[in-house]
Amino acid sequence: MFARQVASRSASLLSRRAFSSSIVAERKVAVLGAGGGIGQPLSLLLKADPLVTSLSLYDIRGAPGVAADCSHVNTHSEVKGFEQDQIKEALTGAEVVVIPAGVPRKPGMTRDDLFNTNASIVQTLAEACAEHCPKAMILIIANPVNSTVPIWAEVYKQKGVFDEKRIFGVTTLDVVRASRFLGEIKNVDPKKVKVTVVGGHSGVTIVPLLSQAPKGRDVKGEEYDALVNRIQFGGDEVVKAKAGAGSATLSMAYAGARFANSVIRAINGEEKVVEPTFVKSPLYESEGVEYFASRVELGTEGVKTIHPVGKLSAKEEELLKACLAELPKNIKKGVDFVNKA
Ligand code: NAD
Ligand code: LMR
Repeated sequence: MFARQVASRSASLLSRRAFSSSIVAERKVAVLGAGGGIGQPLSLLLKADPLVTSLSLYDIRGAPGVAADCSHVNTHSEVKGFEQDQIKEALTGAEVVVIPAGVPRKPGMTRDDLFNTNASIVQTLAEACAEHCPKAMILIIANPVNSTVPIWAEVYKQKGVFDEKRIFGVTTLDVVRASRFLGEIKNVDPKKVKVTVVGGHSGVTIVPLLSQAPKGRDVKGEEYDALVNRIQFGGDEVVKAKAGAGSATLSMAYAGARFANSVIRAINGEEKVVEPTFVKSPLYESEGVEYFASRVELGTEGVKTIHPVGKLSAKEEELLKACLAELPKNIKKGVDFVNKA
């Protein structure tokens, strides 16, 4: 009886291994904040991603329920939910960690107004990742991204595990919005409209490079100003429409899942995977800007090549100037938060 049980358990284990390995490499992804507005649809999209083989959902509330729900989706990955005291189990073995944990804006707030609450949340989670999965690729969604990325980096420096190639601020939603809004104006399929967005992730630090997009360079005058404004303040549009019930969640989940998929494809050895993302960057370091979003080629070890912004129009030079004036304040705020006496 016992022998039969063992035999059948081994057979099922074997067939599961054979099933997984015949499809893709083992890739464990953890979502921190999985019970929230972004976390839930993001977890679903990651469950649907064939490159994800194991999904670890953590939140201070609600993650086991989200995990049970996602686990019924008939893709091959395994899903587990973890509660507040189980962060070690949630993170151990994770190669990619996505972080949508933190409070969202309400109408009238800036992203920087979230700093006081989210800085501590991000610091705590960075400490846990430094301990339990220091080599994982870290994808930070929690706002204000311009400050939470430096917070994460400073925690890792303190813990002696800092690797600038593995910490990413997720700015994909700006790119998704830019292609959608430009596609709308030009009446073309947004999927065919690629717009690079550089800088940071808030207001004037978001710099769309429309002059480099085939359909974008024809947009001029008032239409150009309105389009740039909509890309820079697209987040406010959603915050206002949700009227106190939060900020972008569904479009963010879509963008976050796209970025996670790009990171995993690169880890799996795919070449030429390029995404704009906010990373420690040499591009404007001489001007006191330590972190900057630009097109980044991803590789097996994280950041492979940071591409410069390329040729800019006069208007874009102006936008970049405003961005570079603002970013260092946001970055310093994050750095100082961790290094306070
Ligand atoms: P939400 O309030 O719906 O969800 C946040 C979740 O985080 C909650 O489930 C909460 O329990 C959890 N949480 C709080 N503290 C935690 C901790 N210490 N550990 C684990 N989980 C914790 O908020 P949301 O709408 O999902 O937004 C989350 C964050 O993402 C906000 O800061 C928001 O501003 C940001 N955001 C960023 C972008 C971007 O483009 N980078 C886009 C949209 C939203
Ligand atoms: C966004 O761009 O939608 C997010 O950063 C959320 C927000 O606060 O606007």
